[in-house]
Amino acid sequence: MAPILSGKRIILGISGGIAAYKSVTLASRFTQANALVDVIMTHSAAKFVAPVTFQSITQRSVATDTFEFWHDAGRLRIGHVALAHAADLFIIAPATAHTIARLALGLSDDLLSITALSYKGPMLLAPAMETNMWTHPATMHNVQTLRDWGVDFIGPAEGRLASGEVGEGRVAEPEEIFEVACKVIGRGGPLDGLRVLITAGGTREPIDPVRFMGNHSTGKMGAALARAARDLGAETVLVHAPLAVHPPGGVTLVPVHTAHQMYGAVMERLPKTDVLIGAAAVADYRPTDSADRKLKKSPKQQIITLERTPDILQTVGERREETRRHPRLVIGFAAETNDLEANAVDKLTKKNLDLIVLNDVTAPDSGFAVDTNRVTLFERDGSREAWPLMSKDEVAQAIMQRVVARLGRRNWKRPRQPSQVDEP
Ligand code: C5P
Repeated sequence: MAPILSGKRIILGISGGIAAYKSVTLASRFTQANALVDVIMTHSAAKFVAPVTFQSITQRSVATDTFEFWHDAGRLRIGHVALAHAADLFIIAPATAHTIARLALGLSDDLLSITALSYKGPMLLAPAMETNMWTHPATMHNVQTLRDWGVDFIGPAEGRLASGEVGEGRVAEPEEIFEVACKVIGRGGPLDGLRVLITAGGTREPIDPVRFMGNHSTGKMGAALARAARDLGAETVLVHAPLAVHPPGGVTLVPVHTAHQMYGAVMERLPKTDVLIGAAAVADYRPTDSADRKLKKSPKQQIITLERTPDILQTVGERREETRRHPRLVIGFAAETNDLEANAVDKLTKKNLDLIVLNDVTAPDSGFAVDTNRVTLFERDGSREAWPLMSKDEVAQAIMQRVVARLGRRNWKRPRQPSQVDEP
């Protein structure tokens, strides 16, 4: 879940393209995240998908007519003014070439364009059109004009288009739009201006070109941490070994495979990192010699000799003695099976961390692959705090609140109360 969207008012503009059907999923995602979604459809969008579909999903009226009036605190207000003033985020998905052109020209000839012109907050467009329309200098110019005004864009992606051709112009997937919307709305949050780097996933150490040594990590906890940091306004980097979950959108992804690659990627970014969270399950050993060719079966016993990999957090801990400033906060995870607390406290000191998050990976509802986690936090001052069983998203959000408490510029912004504006 994304608490950043709870209670937020989102205008979801839909212009006329076949990709309009995908916005049904998007409207549903926002509604499930407890956002109040006001759908505005152009007349051609309403030919592709019936307004009643969005009405049913959002349980709110769908606006198509410029001359509608809305009730606002006992007063009748002009629809587009009321909507534009109440909104926290304005998304147009799909945004056709025509709609983009109208926005860039400041036209106001239908409800969508007039509401956009009346609106002053963050705006996110998800273009969808044929490749030639997208790459046309007129569209490129209009997109640049809007970017210069601070409008965000997501996509378009390459893929199969309505014409049957394959090329650039396919609307971004609803999940991606949802994720980037969280980032856009989270801007200016309490971690705004801070750079957070998270490691995630289980590294893979090659034995030969087709085999590797790995572990059970899925990267769920790390991905949740990246989302939570992003939603609080942090500039977020996720250095990740292969993930079994969708990587989060709106963060910089740095894919790696091995512990050495992860080490290199983290060290390179260290001078520009304010907060480092090591949620990856990094291999402690790797095969000394990785074969160039696939190892063949033989009746003889095979022995693989192993050598140590670099300990990323420990190196960061050591470097902190040299540069006290970066990272300002280092958080580790201890996935343990036995002597839980002693091992966690030992790592906290040995790796020179500010905080360590202990989880018992033998518990069925905690640790690898599951969506929940039961963790205990240990701090340098000797304090410890056991948290109840929570979803990994909730654990991530609570950890980020710790980061806010230590480094955040402002306190956690409360979601804005829904405004008084109701449907007509
Ligand atoms: O020593 P251990 O692997 O149990 O420590 C776990 C913590 O250290 C985790 O935060 C993990 O991401 C990090 N780690 C690391 N580099 C390694 C091994 C672990 O950053 N080579």
